[in-house]
Order: sequence, then C-alpha cells, then structure tokens
Amino acid sequence: MKTLLLSLREISKSYGEKNRKVKVLDNISLDIYDEFTSIIGPSGSGKTTLLKIIAGVEKPDTGEIKQYTKDLRIGFVFQFPTLLPWETVLENVTLPLIANGVSREKAREIAEKYLGLVGLSGFEDFYPHELSGGMRQRVNIARALAIEPTILLLDEPFSHLDPLTAENLRSEILDIWLSGATTVRSIILVTHNVDEAILMSDRLIILTPRPAKIAKIINIDLPRPRDRRSVEFQKIEDLVYEYIS
Ligand SMILES: Nc1ncnc2c1ncn2[C@@H]1O[C@H](COP(=O)(O)OP(=O)(O)O)[C@@H](O)[C@H]1O
Ligand SMILES: [Mg+2]
Repeated sequence: MKTLLLSLREISKSYGEKNRKVKVLDNISLDIYDEFTSIIGPSGSGKTTLLKIIAGVEKPDTGEIKQYTKDLRIGFVFQFPTLLPWETVLENVTLPLIANGVSREKAREIAEKYLGLVGLSGFEDFYPHELSGGMRQRVNIARALAIEPTILLLDEPFSHLDPLTAENLRSEILDIWLSGATTVRSIILVTHNVDEAILMSDRLIILTPRPAKIAKIINIDLPRPRDRRSVEFQKIEDLVYEYIS
C-alpha cells in the first residue's frame, strides 16, 4: 500500500504583470506518495516552477498544498550548480545544517555519512573546481540528503552530465533510495528524458507545454533493474510519446 504524503490541489501560477503576464501552471492537482515520481515536460513548460511550489520556495497564485505527514521535510537538488566555490565539499554540506542549528560536530558526522553514501568519502577537503561534473552533482545530492528530507526533489539532475556518468548516477540514486539508508520516502524527478523517467519511476506525470496541465499519468510497475530493450519498457515508451507530441 502506498502512503499519501502531499497533495497539490488546483495549483495555478503566472509570472509577470498585465500584458507581459505568462501563465505557467494551469490548475494542477497531484498526489505525492511514498514512491518515485517523474514529472516530464518540454523545456519552459513550468517543471521547475512546480518543484519550487512543492518545496515552498515559490507561492502559487491559487490552489493549496496539503501535507499528510508530520514533520515533512523537503530536499532540493537544483537544476543549475549551487555549490559555493570557495568552500570545501565538507563545508558545502555542513553549512546548511549549521545554519539550521545543528552543532558543528554533529553536522560533520551527518555530512560524512551522506558523502560516503554518494561515493565521496576521501573528497571532504576538495574544492568544487577540483571535482568532475558528476562528483559535483554527488555533492549536491549529499547536501540535499543531509537535511534528512522526507521528499527529495531532483530538477534535471543528469542533464548536464555525460551519458556514462549520468547512467551510473541514475542507478546509484535508485540503489541508495531502495536500500532505505536515508530518510527519503519519496523522490520527485523532473526531466525531459523519457527513457530516464521510465527507467526510474513508479509513476510518470506528463505535462503539456506551457501553461502546464497534466496530460497523462502513467503507473509503471516493471521490476527493477529495468531492461530498456524489453517489450514492456518499449510499450510504455510508445504510450508516453503519444502524449508528448
Ligand atoms: N522567476 C520568474 N520570473 C518570471 N518568469 C519566470 C520565472 N521563473 C520561470 N519563469 C518563466 O516561466 C516559464 C516556465 O519556467 P520553468 O518552470 O523554469 O520551466 P521548465 O523548468 O519546465 O523549463 C518560462 O517561460 C520561464 O521563462
Ligand atoms: Mg527547469
């Protein structure tokens, strides 16, 4: 049985004023469960805006978000690099914790745990520019995990990586999540990559071009790890393409 964690009800959002007003989200209603959800839509369709609203860093014009669990915390891996270049890997992960009132010692302990989980033990004293793109993204993920979130939001986390690095990181994130080694009960991945969405998720939300509405929701119950060449995988792929043309 899946558990409902968060519910978005009739969310709409526009940016700009008067004749420069752009409607981005149009009446989105969506339930978030303890599973892996992907949100797929073309560039500029409002995916990042939707994640920001879920995270509470952006307010919708209308509609509401209801939480169905106490102490719900949300971790956010942003689309564009957000590491502080003048701080080490360790500091990049500990500083948000310390800002939240965690002691320096405890923050270090937590940071080391999550840096270890993403394969970065031994890189604590490195600076971001000394790391590859894939390693920097691992730091971003460790930093989001370190706040010990219930829901983890991933905004196109693989789109700036080379294909092999992206593929490794996808399976590692799935492994980390399925292993239960973190507090994360739900992952919401934003992507425009159909293959990636089917590979990773339990449920796929397809958005229309701007203003984003929900075009289709597809449940995927194929066993993991998934085989892209299987008939079932390709059937789902065909179905998705029917809704994103
Ligand atoms: N802070 C903002 N102010 C004005 N317009 C914005 C802002 N954020 C996003 N937009 C516009 O909203 C639309 C959707 O943006 P976004 O949510 O980033 O889409 P996506 O992540 O799907 O590419 C785009 O046209 C973008 O230019
Ligand atoms: Mg975006």
